[in-house]
Amino acid sequence: MKIGIFDSGIGGVTVLNRVRYKYPDIDIVFFGDTLRLPYGEKTKEQILTYSREIVKFLIDKEVSVILIACNTATSLALDELKNEFNLPIIGTIDPVVDKLISKNYNNVGLIATSSTVNSNKYFEAIKNRNKDINLISKATPLFVPVIEEGITKGPIIDELCNVYIDNMKDKIESLILGCTHYSTIENSISTKYPNIEIVNSSFEIVDELEKYISDRNNKKGKVEFYISGSQDKFRSNIKKIFGIEDANIYGGNINV
Ligand code: DGL
Repeated sequence: MKIGIFDSGIGGVTVLNRVRYKYPDIDIVFFGDTLRLPYGEKTKEQILTYSREIVKFLIDKEVSVILIACNTATSLALDELKNEFNLPIIGTIDPVVDKLISKNYNNVGLIATSSTVNSNKYFEAIKNRNKDINLISKATPLFVPVIEEGITKGPIIDELCNVYIDNMKDKIESLILGCTHYSTIENSISTKYPNIEIVNSSFEIVDELEKYISDRNNKKGKVEFYISGSQDKFRSNIKKIFGIEDANIYGGNINV
């Protein structure tokens, strides 16, 4: 089987890696919209337009399921995409909330892009399941541009954690990484805050895929990366951050 995965950029690769680890035989078409990154500062209309274009692109590539490996696009576009397209489309928020509920956390932090936080989608999804969970949300927009420069540890990440997370650290037992890019800095965060349990949206979304998986076999799945911005920059980032070499990277021009 063949699945589609999309994000604005590197964050989606953390989801792709998880899918490859769990289902190595599955073919994957990945779309990274690095030309229009960051998604986290865009309007709902913009994100809806981009997401529709990418979903059509992936359907043309004959995928049978789509993972929105992006919390921002999940927050701003998932409901509409599910209504408009006739294939399973999986977002990040419900799988994360399932995990929170199963762990019985009471005091939860959320770090995410400005658009995700402002959409209130995590807040609503959590309150719908359990009104007693206390959620502290923080928009953390500087992480994405830094991570897209290939920086996932060291003094800049530590300082951003000080600015963004220190204020909530004594009030929460668990922290949602509500942006798939943040999966690349999970080690830095958990080293700095060892008592806080991390809930990683890049991992939780892949658990939701299980019910759509079929046609398993022993062959190694093919992966194609379609990138709207610089292919060279993407190639060097996935090598530096994930050690991925010899990836099949193509131009992802969806505006023609
Ligand atoms: N990785 C995305 C997310 O999960 C978007 C990051 C961005 O482009 O701002 O929200």
